[in-house]
Amino acid sequence: MTAGLSSEADQRAARALFRRARLQRWLGRRSEALALCRQAVDRADYSRAYTLMSHLALPGEDYFRVLGRIHRHLRPRTYLEVGVSRGESLACVLPGTQVLGIDPAPNLGKPPPANVRIYRETSDDFFAKYSPRAELGGQPVELAFIDGMHHFEYALRDFINVERACSGSSVILMHDCYPLDERTAQREQVTGFWSGDIWRLLLLLRTHRPDLTVRTIATPPTGLGIVLNPDPTSRVLADRLNELIAEYLAKDFGVLGARKPEALGLIENRWAAIRGLLDSRPKP
Ligand SMILES: C[S@@+](CC[C@H](N)C(=O)[O-])C[C@H]1O[C@@H](n2cnc3c(N)ncnc32)[C@H](O)[C@@H]1O
Repeated sequence: MTAGLSSEADQRAARALFRRARLQRWLGRRSEALALCRQAVDRADYSRAYTLMSHLALPGEDYFRVLGRIHRHLRPRTYLEVGVSRGESLACVLPGTQVLGIDPAPNLGKPPPANVRIYRETSDDFFAKYSPRAELGGQPVELAFIDGMHHFEYALRDFINVERACSGSSVILMHDCYPLDERTAQREQVTGFWSGDIWRLLLLLRTHRPDLTVRTIATPPTGLGIVLNPDPTSRVLADRLNELIAEYLAKDFGVLGARKPEALGLIENRWAAIRGLLDSRPKP
């Protein structure tokens, strides 16, 4: 089923199922609401049903709010963001943080503030040309957010490049790590609500980098990956890049199955838990 293939009747049915799901949620009947959302998205590509499903499956504050809390808690001197788009996640940055934002097609609407430098290019081109440390006056990246191309191998290369620019106490965040279902996790986008196959990166890091702490915070809409203890000298991923890409592209979504929360290191979306995790990292 794709958006283009659903009939008018299917779309009407999906809207009606969504409205019933919303009512069930309001009545506190979570599993009934989830089941109705599922029926809705099985009839037609209806993003509002997926969004409601995400809030039911991943309750708590959305990723923008959690990102804002992380900035206020860590007060990083430096921040690097891959995938800037309209600047909504950049808006979480504090005025005292020096920022590098990378996006081939940023759409900020107004000039960025003085502490934010935007690089209008792909992240692969940026990392081939620049050293983030040098761009930051010799400082490491203290906080990073990877939210560019939604394909696993791009996010993996971003991770490798970002980790090189970090210190051991830096924090690396990654968006779209907890797919709601197989359809929204495909590499080719067939739904409006889309997380792509970034989940593969979580599986890879949790298997091949036991030296890292790798978790997914259960934020709607699609989970926020968090990595602690980066090692800027590690060559484990870079030295086997093509082999690892082939190995993880071959994995079927079914490998997540009923183990999805455990496989992706899901943690509760509660600020006390997130703060505790952040505070467990090695201090600078
Ligand atoms: C989901 S949006 C980012 C949203 C933003 N981080 C936020 O939360 O407000 C993804 C962005 O990644 C950018 N992008 C796509 N391919 C990219 C690449 N290869 N390198 C860097 N950015 C890329 C797109 O232009 C798009 O603006």
